Amino acid sequence: MILMNDIVREGAEVLKTKAQEVKLPLSVEDEQTLIKMNEYILNSIDPEISEKYGLRGACGLAANQINILKRMLVMRDYDENNQLHHYMMINPKIISYSDELTYLPGGEGCLSVDREVVGLVHRPRKVTVKTYLYENGEVKEVTLRLKDYIAIVFQHEYDHLNGILFVDRINKDFPLNVPENSTPVRFKRAEEEK
Ligand code: NI
Repeated sequence: MILMNDIVREGAEVLKTKAQEVKLPLSVEDEQTLIKMNEYILNSIDPEISEKYGLRGACGLAANQINILKRMLVMRDYDENNQLHHYMMINPKIISYSDELTYLPGGEGCLSVDREVVGLVHRPRKVTVKTYLYENGEVKEVTLRLKDYIAIVFQHEYDHLNGILFVDRINKDFPLNVPENSTPVRFKRAEEEK
C-alpha cells in the first residue's frame, strides 16, 4: 500500500516533469499502479486506516506523486448536488474549457506540498475531458463535462501530469488577486486535499 513516505514532495524533479502517455491495452503493471493509487485515496478517507498509517486525506492523486511518470490519475469527491465523482483516469485530455474561472476561497492543498501556502488558484470553471476510464477491470473511452469544485479537483491532478504544482499557478505579486472573470466555488463538501 502507498504510505506518506511514498509520496514525492515539492522540489523533486518528477513533479516538474511531464508524464508519458500510457500504452493501451493497459499492462498488468500499470493496472496495479492505478489500483494502488485508488486504494490510497480510499484509505486516506477511512478514519481508522488513515490514523493507523498517518495518511493525509486526499481527493486526488497523480502518478507523478508516487514517482511514476505515466499519465494516470485518480480522483474522488462529491459535487454540489451530492453526486460522487470517482474516476480512475488514463491519458486524460482537456478538449475544451470555459473562459469563466473559479477558485477555492481557502486556496488549494497538495499531498506533495507540506508548507502552508497563501494564494489563490484560478482555473476554468468548466472543462470537457476526453479520457480512458478504468472501471471494474475494464478500460473505456469517455467524454466528461466537469464543473466548479470537481473541475478544480480534476485540473489540479491534470496539472501534476504536466509537471505543474498549484503553487506555480499563484500570482507571485498579488497572491490573493481575483480576476474579474473568476468567482469562488460556493460548495465544497469535504475539507480533503488534492
Ligand atoms: Ni497535488
